[in-house]
Amino acid sequence: MSATSISKALTPPDIKARKGGTPIACLTAYTTPFARIVDRHCDLILVGDSVGMVLHGLPSTVAVSLDMMIMHGQAVCRGAGRALVVVDLPFGSYEEGPEQAFRNAARVMAETGCGAVKLEGGETMAETIRFLTRRGIPVMAHIGLTPQAVNTFGGYKVQGRGAGAEQILKDAEAVSEAGAFCVVLEKVTEPLARSITEAVAIPTIGIGASAACDGQILVLDDVLGIFTDFRPKFVKRYAELGRDAETAISAYAKDVREHRFPGPEHVFGETARPSAGG
Ligand code: KIV
Repeated sequence: MSATSISKALTPPDIKARKGGTPIACLTAYTTPFARIVDRHCDLILVGDSVGMVLHGLPSTVAVSLDMMIMHGQAVCRGAGRALVVVDLPFGSYEEGPEQAFRNAARVMAETGCGAVKLEGGETMAETIRFLTRRGIPVMAHIGLTPQAVNTFGGYKVQGRGAGAEQILKDAEAVSEAGAFCVVLEKVTEPLARSITEAVAIPTIGIGASAACDGQILVLDDVLGIFTDFRPKFVKRYAELGRDAETAISAYAKDVREHRFPGPEHVFGETARPSAGG
């Protein structure tokens, strides 16, 4: 889907209407080829700022720029047709206030063709979420562990144990009332995820937040076994593509060094023979 085509994709209201129904399947994607595959199976594709760690080798999401998000957002929108594409607003692009958030979110939507943006924060971001949603920008909220605030949290810790639970519930209610169409709950305990899911009118999308949520999201490269720097307890790996790539690349290098590649079938001769590869 390009920025100018007429969208046949699922919309934010479609996702919102799935509250309490069949669980909403979401994954991240950052490139066109993987967006095509995810699009055939999932309801929502998030162009997460996890791209900074997963594809660019950054230590956290803090240094991800708006330009990076727009470039990956464009790539994903080219590959998606049915799923709702949501692009993350990166750290520093929305926290100053509603006007800054609107300016950058509008740029993301206009330049990528995505259907919504995501931003991190609960009660403190409610005013911004209200400002955006009233001006035509659908917002997916993100509360609990918000990775852009990793330096404040002092690590990627489980949130909502003990006294912290009450604030996260308030955050969920605030973003729901402000007009978010769904909310990501990251790394919170199962009882809290259940209470929030029962309390708010919008779907909760869990990542490390149990099956009590209305939907689930994971980072694609975790699911495929490509990103192996660390493996959170909440990730289920469905493939070992990192290991398979290692095997393939080492076999290629060995073949080159031992004169097995290229073989006769990969070589152009004197006389032209019609072939698919020219
Ligand atoms: O950046 C990201 O990938 C996310 C998660 C919710 C998966 O925000």
